[in-house]
Amino acid sequence: MQEIEIKQVSVDNIFKIRQQVLRPGKPIETCFFEKDKALESFHLGAFYNTQLIGIASVLEDNSNTFQEKFQFRLRGMAVLPDFRKKKIGAILLKEAEKYCFQKKAEILWFNAREKVVPFYEKYAFKKEGSVFLIPSVGNHQLMFKRFNYE
Ligand SMILES: CC(C)(COP(=O)(O)OP(=O)(O)OC[C@H]1O[C@@H](n2cnc3c(N)ncnc32)[C@H](O)[C@@H]1OP(=O)(O)O)[C@@H](O)C(=O)NCCC(=O)NCCS
Repeated sequence: MQEIEIKQVSVDNIFKIRQQVLRPGKPIETCFFEKDKALESFHLGAFYNTQLIGIASVLEDNSNTFQEKFQFRLRGMAVLPDFRKKKIGAILLKEAEKYCFQKKAEILWFNAREKVVPFYEKYAFKKEGSVFLIPSVGNHQLMFKRFNYE
């Protein structure tokens, strides 16, 4: 496969893939996340030639579960079905972590779909608490990684 390019993208470019992969059959409004346009929020796109094939967002959003003051939240991680299992998800995740690291964030957290937990565990994210249901989306698991700057 030709090389994949990862770039920062405007949030307006990613709603289509969010809808297609994460909210199929649901209105586009369900793909607008609260902190999408917050100052420090950051959206990544994976491109194959000029085609956007994968997305991930790092949002300025704190969880009450964690004590850290400077948190980021990963949301909307998705790779188009034809491009899966080619490490594109892994590259997007690494780039998301890199952004947190550059910003000196203390923790990256997210609600992972239960069936995707092993993917995140592969990259050293940890589970916090028990599985819970997000109505009309499914079972989720809170996960996180703390960053150490010493
Ligand atoms: C989850 C997702 C982003 C992974 O993207 P991907 O590009 O297919 O994943 P990668 O190819 O980078 O996978 C890297 C490794 O994780 C593994 N992996 C990927 N998805 C996995 C899963 N659901 N469960 C367990 N392992 C998984 C791969 O087999 C690979 O392992 P290897 O290094 O031993 O070969 C993609 O499957 C997707 O978009 N799924 C639908 C939307 C979704 O559920 N998003 C996550 C919401 S929390």
